[in-house]
Amino acid sequence: MNDAALSLHARADAMEERKARELDYLVVKSRIHSLAEADFSAPPNAGAMLKANPNLRLLMGDDPRLPKMPDKPTLIDFFKLRFGPSAHLLQSARHAVKGGLSEKMVLACLLHDIAGVGFIRGDHGYWGAQLVEPYVDEEVTWAIRAHQVLRFYADPSVGYEYPQSYVTLFGADYEPDAYVAEDYKRMRNHKWYMSGRMITVHDIYSFDPNVHVELEEFTDIIGRNFKQPAEGLGFDNSPVAHMWRAMIRPAKYL
Ligand SMILES: [Fe+2]
Ligand SMILES: [Fe+2]
Repeated sequence: MNDAALSLHARADAMEERKARELDYLVVKSRIHSLAEADFSAPPNAGAMLKANPNLRLLMGDDPRLPKMPDKPTLIDFFKLRFGPSAHLLQSARHAVKGGLSEKMVLACLLHDIAGVGFIRGDHGYWGAQLVEPYVDEEVTWAIRAHQVLRFYADPSVGYEYPQSYVTLFGADYEPDAYVAEDYKRMRNHKWYMSGRMITVHDIYSFDPNVHVELEEFTDIIGRNFKQPAEGLGFDNSPVAHMWRAMIRPAKYL
């Protein structure tokens, strides 16, 4: 075999080996994924499956099906490698810039739905606020939590009406849950009410494919207003580090 053929052969071998390695892991979904599918069945019996295939391992490292994250991931890495489409967030942030909001409120608009695009949908304002709490101004956290609640309540003083999209999505007779109504009363009288309200004002749903906003437009604002931990999100021993790790390795067995 000549050198070229040999290296081709070696490459093919390496590819096969990699493929085999990649297939030799078992993904066991977290209970919440199964519940979301209304699946109450028991998880797969990992022990029995391992007996049948001794090469099988439970997924504990990086998930080869997902883009690899850097060792010290930044917020921007999460936007690029983990969050789903974020055009809505980018458009909202640009809208906030045009509306003359402060940098920290532009950041709040940029981050307001990160739980929805990267973590969990229900109560996305509360989850999103918790995710960023150690890294942003307290007012940003408060406003992100509040936006989910305030979206359900009109404020004519700033021209905010109950969203027509909610009528379509949830029905004209939809009433927010009691805890949302309770939180609204508290939030309405809070000193930062208008900050939460401003997120709702700039929470635009213009999915115009011709409006393209690059994340890079906000690199400086993120740099100045988001305290990126040197160890990377997920590895800074903060009270929410495990939540970021859950997005890095969402199918980790333990
Ligand atoms: Fe939202
Ligand atoms: Fe939104």
